[in-house]
Amino acid sequence: LRQNEPLLEIAMPDGQRAWLSTRYDDAIQILKDDERFTKNLQSLSPEDYSAIMPHKEMDLISKQMLSSDPPDHARLRSIVSKAFSPQMIEDMQNEIQRITDDLIDRIQEKGSMEIIADFAFPLPIIVISQMLGIPENDHYLVKKWSSDFIESANNRDKLKEAFPSIQAFGRYIDELITERRKHPGSDLISMLIQAHDNRDRLTAEELSSTIWLLIVAGHETTVNLIGNGLLALLENPDQLRLWRSDPALAQPGIEELLRYYSPVEIATSRWARHDFTWHGKNVRKSDLIFVGLAAANRDPDQFENPDRLDITRKKNKHMAFGNGIHFCLGAPLARLEGKIALSTLLRRLPNLRIDTTSEELKWRSGILMRGLERFP
Ligand code: HEM
Repeated sequence: LRQNEPLLEIAMPDGQRAWLSTRYDDAIQILKDDERFTKNLQSLSPEDYSAIMPHKEMDLISKQMLSSDPPDHARLRSIVSKAFSPQMIEDMQNEIQRITDDLIDRIQEKGSMEIIADFAFPLPIIVISQMLGIPENDHYLVKKWSSDFIESANNRDKLKEAFPSIQAFGRYIDELITERRKHPGSDLISMLIQAHDNRDRLTAEELSSTIWLLIVAGHETTVNLIGNGLLALLENPDQLRLWRSDPALAQPGIEELLRYYSPVEIATSRWARHDFTWHGKNVRKSDLIFVGLAAANRDPDQFENPDRLDITRKKNKHMAFGNGIHFCLGAPLARLEGKIALSTLLRRLPNLRIDTTSEELKWRSGILMRGLERFP
């Protein structure tokens, strides 16, 4: 595809015209081009938007930075960006290490584990929940609601099936906001409430929607970095040995794992603002554009031997966190969690291996995320 049809027309089940881009250079162009592409379908075409989003509750998933264009985008992002600065995240190192060690202690008592349920999922959800101030008992509810949404993303028919979960998630967030207004803390939700109540920088819908985005983005992706990353290392024993032999390799190693098995397979939806021709194809206003991040990350014009896992790779400007104004806000947190999780697993569990006697590895369905559902 990259060579012969870098912009592929794809058939969406509901008849919406859509395109998939697979080259690295094109991915950068699209993600940086706010003139030709918009993230905000509601402003481009209110009719198309209401066809996808008939319920008022759907505002929950769209009034946040990742679905906004400039200038709203900068306002929404700046309110939370301070909490995700590299320094703030670095300060969380000890806490992330403590959570990781606790989870491994429990695994060691059991003797075997299913990586996703026992480790890769709990770690990022505990971390983001602590940042936001979400009670531990609610983690599994939150996981179900956000997984239902992710499975349905980019498929309008399935999106309708996920309505009940999205609505329940919205009610839960409203309750959290009410509770936190009564008892404010030093968490991110209390900070966002302040930005709404005192400074009027955030509407009520944007407040709920931003909290929703942080919960979903904060764990759905990092689970896959840990699961996919461990799988890649176990599939490549020479690289596993190398990582174990030199802890400093965790730094370039995590970047290579992000490139090799990209946790987010395609970027979130963008729509063409007007008609244009590209790679000989006629793209029309309101067409949906998917940017293949995982495909860009294996583009031989950008990466030497792209299908080889090389944790010492030098030039590694991968696209796993996207590019342009929507570049992942949580990248410093995700990198730190990934490094601590994998390095600690490899150090503390020297006999780690895939259990081929039990169930097969099972990949999640859906086209947005690449990640394992079960990893025994
Ligand atoms: C945006 C990937 C972890 C928060 C993005 C985008 C990608 C991405 C590709 C851009 C999507 C687009 O342009 O369509 C990842 C990966 C992660 C990860 C691979 C883990 C390995 C996190 C974490 C958080 C987070 C831990 C923390 C809450 C966000 C937010 C945005 C975003 C808020 C929207 C930024 C904006 O619109 O300006 N992420 N992410 N992500 N990510 Fe992450």
